Amino acid sequence: MHLHLLPLLALCGAGCVVAGPSYSLRGSWRVSNGNGSLELPGTVPGCVHSALYQRGLIQDPYYRFNDLRYRWISLDNWTYSTDFKIPFNVSEWQKVRLIFEGVDTVAQILFNNVTLGKTDNMFTGYSFDITGVVRDVNSLQLRFQSAVQYAERQSKAHTNYSVPPNCPPKEQKGECHVNFIRKVKALSNAWALRLLCDWLPSWPKESMGPDVGIRSYSLCLLNACVLSFLGAVDNASREWNVEIEASFDVVSSKPVGGQVTVAIPKLQTRQTFDIELQQRQRTVKLLVKISKDIAVELWWPRGHGSQTGFNMTVLFVLDGGLNIERSVKVYFRTVQLIEESIKGSPGLSFYFKINGLPIFLKGSNWIPADSFQDRVTPELLQVLLRSVVDANMNTLRVWGGGIYEQDGFYELCNELGIMVWQDFMFACALYPVGRSFVESVRAEVAYQIRRLKSHPSIIIWSGNNENEVALRVNWFHVNSSDLETYFKDYVTLYVRNIREIVLSEDKSRPFIVSSPTNGVKTMAEGWISNDPNSNHYGDVHFYDYSNDCWNWKMFPKARFVSEYGYQSWPSFSTLEKVSSKEDWSYSSGFALHRQHHGNGNDEMLEQVQLHFRLPRRTDPLRKFKDMIYLTQVMQAQCIKTETEFYMRSRSEIVDGQGHTMGALYWQLNDIWQAPSWASLEYGGKWKMLHYFAQRFFAPLLPVGFEDKGVFYVYGVSDLHRDYKTRLTVRLHTWSSLTPLCSVVTSSAVMKAGEAAILYQEPVPDLLKRCGGCTRESCVVSFHLSTHVDVFSPTNYHFLSSLKDAQGLVKANITVTISQKGDLFVFDLRTSAVAPFVWLDVGSIPGRFSDNGFLMIKKMRSVLFYPWKLTSKSELQQAFTVTSLTDTY
Ligand SMILES: *[C@@H]1O[C@H](CO)[C@@H](O)[C@H](O)[C@H]1NC(C)=O
Ligand SMILES: *[C@@H]1O[C@H](CO)[C@@H](O)[C@H](O)[C@H]1NC(C)=O
Ligand SMILES: *[C@@H]1O[C@H](CO)[C@@H](O)[C@H](O)[C@H]1NC(C)=O
Ligand SMILES: *[C@@H]1O[C@H](CO)[C@@H](O)[C@H](O)[C@H]1NC(C)=O
Ligand SMILES: *[C@@H]1O[C@H](CO)[C@@H](O)[C@H](O)[C@H]1NC(C)=O
Ligand SMILES: *[C@@H]1O[C@H](CO)[C@@H](O)[C@H](O)[C@H]1NC(C)=O
Ligand SMILES: *[C@@H]1O[C@H](CO)[C@@H](O)[C@H](O)[C@H]1NC(C)=O
Ligand SMILES: *[C@@H]1O[C@H](CO)[C@@H](O)[C@H](O)[C@H]1NC(C)=O
Ligand SMILES: *[C@@H]1O[C@H](CO)[C@@H](O)[C@H](O)[C@H]1NC(C)=O
Repeated sequence: MHLHLLPLLALCGAGCVVAGPSYSLRGSWRVSNGNGSLELPGTVPGCVHSALYQRGLIQDPYYRFNDLRYRWISLDNWTYSTDFKIPFNVSEWQKVRLIFEGVDTVAQILFNNVTLGKTDNMFTGYSFDITGVVRDVNSLQLRFQSAVQYAERQSKAHTNYSVPPNCPPKEQKGECHVNFIRKVKALSNAWALRLLCDWLPSWPKESMGPDVGIRSYSLCLLNACVLSFLGAVDNASREWNVEIEASFDVVSSKPVGGQVTVAIPKLQTRQTFDIELQQRQRTVKLLVKISKDIAVELWWPRGHGSQTGFNMTVLFVLDGGLNIERSVKVYFRTVQLIEESIKGSPGLSFYFKINGLPIFLKGSNWIPADSFQDRVTPELLQVLLRSVVDANMNTLRVWGGGIYEQDGFYELCNELGIMVWQDFMFACALYPVGRSFVESVRAEVAYQIRRLKSHPSIIIWSGNNENEVALRVNWFHVNSSDLETYFKDYVTLYVRNIREIVLSEDKSRPFIVSSPTNGVKTMAEGWISNDPNSNHYGDVHFYDYSNDCWNWKMFPKARFVSEYGYQSWPSFSTLEKVSSKEDWSYSSGFALHRQHHGNGNDEMLEQVQLHFRLPRRTDPLRKFKDMIYLTQVMQAQCIKTETEFYMRSRSEIVDGQGHTMGALYWQLNDIWQAPSWASLEYGGKWKMLHYFAQRFFAPLLPVGFEDKGVFYVYGVSDLHRDYKTRLTVRLHTWSSLTPLCSVVTSSAVMKAGEAAILYQEPVPDLLKRCGGCTRESCVVSFHLSTHVDVFSPTNYHFLSSLKDAQGLVKANITVTISQKGDLFVFDLRTSAVAPFVWLDVGSIPGRFSDNGFLMIKKMRSVLFYPWKLTSKSELQQAFTVTSLTDTY
């Protein structure tokens, strides 16, 4: 067990405090292609596709089949150039640097016709000394090489042995050899868009100083981008410390003396340190102790407390009249990953303690929000991350096939209390370990840790996605005699390099080498475990599309499930924007083209058919919309069953398995408008699954299921104290809006943070007790209430497939919409019991308070929270309601 007591602050994140003036190169540049036939203005930060689109030279790259049509863009070379006059006298400064916080990806950089160097890793920052070449008026060129061609050449040059996979499966429509280039990988994965974009990205926020631009200084430069803080508690005194690390570039040949004053007014802390910077000194480390007499309010994950942070100022007063001040927010929290033996179960636990409290991680996996990162606005991040906490999640895993997200992402996670499981960007592939590749990775890892470690939201680093398991089961079919080489390379990259850097740079959170992994067991087995997906150790990833997802027995009773999922189609209003009439059927070329997962569309259909009737309505558009609706119903119901199984498995060991402490489904968000595992559509609209998540991740949850003909209800609590709880179980017939019978249990104590059986009854007894019920004619609903006014959502249990349900009739659901302040109230009235009632307002941004529910009472009110200004009449016009029998 490791105890890390560390305060963290999001200081830098960002930007740089410089001694001298700086000049930003954000703005309009010129973009031209390889042979010069195209020349157009392009924004920095920005992307070639966006520049072409804005000029009207291409259509929306996401429209219909444009991802294929515009493949030429990523096969061409592109040059970004600009001429600029520096508005200050650079000669007054001893040193001038050109800064790029990220260049995507392979570019030669020419400054006033002098080659400064090249870039080949989009995940790291670059900085060039231009003191000797800078003038008043300057020209700058970034000559991008086609990333596709570069990757291919790198792969060809690696002659010793092949490093698979060479190309992704055909249906993924991705580019080859992406493991040879440090560039976003999602583009060759199941989201594979042939839309590799050369662009100038920026991680930090510009408000702190230019992320693309010029910095000048004499004496020294404080590089705030690598100003970070970590604290460690003295084990004996258990005092909070703040460890501050500032990086400098000292030009002066004489030592630069001075003082640093660190103040955290709210914690009555103010300390001054004498420092002396030596030439070329890199870092200054300071340790600020918080007195034990001061109560430090901690940062807590969502649902477990507040996200308190404290303002801290760091003031450097250096000889020569140089004052540099930074104000940042510092947070205090600890993380432990607990791997210890469990009574009655072989193996080890795998769960997180935050501030000493064991916490069940509930959430999902995050992928890049757009192929074109310049379309990811702060508003979009806000919508997506608010939706995370609105659905009662507390965790996101930033998946290793995407990107290290921008600072704003982690800042929002800090503020909202979202824990982040951060992968390094390696996924589903073997990687080369040639010297220059490894050097580049080392720079990337060091850069990202320094950039990100001040964020309390990040609770774990993970070396890669699925590469341990890929080697163990030999996904890429390498010759068994060669396996040893690949094993060795694996250890070289993730253990001898990445792990080594993480352990030396960041002691404030745990590191695991892969996901899924067996944690310390993997380590003991030489880093590639015999069964990395074991239910007895570490985390697992689990997918099974062919078996019946209503049967919870197929799911792994594992310690932690960090990936699992089912696909569905996004709503028609989302698809409509990127398709035309001939695309609107489930078997269209478009439907097939957008499906990047092997047999995905058929798998959805087969899973739907297990429990639902296929659409009967004949109008082709109606039928397509009904299919979309049914795939969403299926996905929501499947993931509900699976998640509830994990949620209720936390406190028990059955046949040696259990103690599940994490459920992160695949996946939260979408990168474009296509069928996928996401619960949020491209742009942020909630699918039915997301509304289900809001219920199945509720802090107080009743879970119903059957085992050998007995109906059970478990209570699951993420609350911080014990509550006296009552369970109400009702039986309803499909044919009537009046419940048939109801039982209320006597109150039992629901323990904080635990799951326990509250109710069990053989199904035949239950049916008999409620005279006249059969499995086909009735449905069970149940909820929890406490002695104070805390309620669970109402849950339900189907006793038969919906396609066999008897007594269901077409429900006539009518609505009255009214405005109440910033919200809208939808008063619904139904003529009959209606399963999976789906309210839809098309493209009007916003979400409902609940949706996709079983309507079992005549009336129900639902709120609509708009994300943009809208009106009652706009909502009325866009509104449609669908329930299951509408598709009959
Ligand atoms: C792009 O540049 C590479 C190397 O500089 C060259 O081999 C290739 O032909 C160029 N492609 C185009 C389309 O100009
Ligand atoms: C220049 O490149 C573009 C894009 O690759 C291509 O369409 C065009 O034919 C080329 N023109 C010449 C003169 O080679
Ligand atoms: C710029 O600074 C240098 C060095 O201090 C000085 O010699 C020069 O005159 C200045 N140029 C202008 C235009 O002020
Ligand atoms: C750069 O070099 C080219 C040719 O080598 C020349 O025509 C051009 O004037 C030079 N530009 C500058 C800014 O020196
Ligand atoms: C603090 O305690 C942990 C666990 O007991 C131990 O691993 C670590 O070495 C200790 N640190 C110091 C500085 O004593
Ligand atoms: C902390 O700093 C922020 C931004 O500088 C400021 O708006 C806020 O008022 C400060 N809070 C306190 C308690 O001083
Ligand atoms: C290829 O093999 C040689 C000899 O074993 C080795 O020196 C070299 O580093 C290898 N190159 C790569 C790219 O692995
Ligand atoms: C496996 O071995 C065979 C025969 O030695 C060879 O032809 C083939 O290229 C090897 N495959 C890989 C992926 O290295
Ligand atoms: C549905 O109910 C409304 C209001 O009760 C009624 O006006 C309407 O005719 C009904 N529609 C159908 C198809 O029965």
